[in-house]
Amino acid sequence: MPNINATFLDNFTIPQEYLNLYEEVYLKENQDKLEELNLLHKSLMKKRLQAIELVLETMLLDEEIPQRLSKAMRYSLLAGGKRLRPILCLSMAKFCTNSQRQANAWLFAIPFAVSLEMIHTYSLIHDDLPAMDNDDLRRGKPTCHKAFDEATAILAGDGLLTDAFYYMADCELPANQVLQALQLIAKAVGSQGMVGGQMLDMEAEQRKINLEELCILNAKKTGALIQCACLSGATLMGASENTKNQIKEYGTNIGIAFQIIDDVLDIIGDTALLGKNVGSDEAKEKSTWPSLMGIDESKKRAIEYCNQAVNNLETLVKKELSLDKGEQYFLQKTAHDMAYRVF
Ligand code: IPE
Ligand code: IPE
Ligand code: MG
Ligand code: MG
Ligand code: MG
Repeated sequence: MPNINATFLDNFTIPQEYLNLYEEVYLKENQDKLEELNLLHKSLMKKRLQAIELVLETMLLDEEIPQRLSKAMRYSLLAGGKRLRPILCLSMAKFCTNSQRQANAWLFAIPFAVSLEMIHTYSLIHDDLPAMDNDDLRRGKPTCHKAFDEATAILAGDGLLTDAFYYMADCELPANQVLQALQLIAKAVGSQGMVGGQMLDMEAEQRKINLEELCILNAKKTGALIQCACLSGATLMGASENTKNQIKEYGTNIGIAFQIIDDVLDIIGDTALLGKNVGSDEAKEKSTWPSLMGIDESKKRAIEYCNQAVNNLETLVKKELSLDKGEQYFLQKTAHDMAYRVF
């Protein structure tokens, strides 16, 4: 069994070179260094993904779980994916860790962060069901209901969602902080958040909705979980109200940008790279950003939201000096790069 904490400490370390490159490109506007920074950011992202993967692989193996259910849950959970939500949660926790006082306290947020991936995976399994988006390819493999059957896929989703709360409650951090984070996540993925957003998404099929309605739909369907991934990381570390407010804004902005990009990629993306079929939204006459304002305008909006997210953190660090600079840059670069998935 690998030492998980040591792997996380190693894989989440940001080298001084990264800080220097970020400052060259974004503060001194030296575009010559951009490619080097892009490559280094990509490799840091990959290392974080690998650390998350290591924990996920150990999960849901309990003998009490009926074998077929455990197989289906692990099939979808371990099929790959960008692992954006746990990476955001842990990066935010690290960002908010006061290195003198708390040192590596962010490591205690690991169970919470990986649980977010379980919740996200549940949402994908149910999203793909015939009664919903009826998709047969996910993360480059047949969807859960295709590889198993519909009943098993429904139960695999139920299991992932419920078990996630069991693991989240297991965080060895101050109980009031864990409780607050739990409440945030329950609200974000429940009927007021993600589930509510999925309802609005279904109701908006074959119907034109306006921009205001689309923003609400997206904020709930996708934004709430992404925002909460960021906010829960800060909450778990006992961050100040001011810090949490700005982090919430960052999460809101990248959450909206993320769905805009997902909608654009559903038209111009490549199935082999995305691991899911393109053209799915058009076939179901979904209400998406490109359907409302076209591809180019959607891309423009995605960039605007990403830039706003960068500004949120810039504003924050001017007031809160104890925050981790390496993580600040990592989170800003993540926002910078998000929109460029569609270029
Ligand atoms: C896809 O999420 C569904 C949306 C909320 C838009 P991701 O694009 O994060 O999917 P994975 O986890 O990488 O497979
Ligand atoms: C899915 O949105 C959102 C949730 C799973 C909550 P989409 O339906 O656009 O996601 P993809 O395109 O199937 O991944
Ligand atoms: Mg959907
Ligand atoms: Mg879908
Ligand atoms: Mg989509």
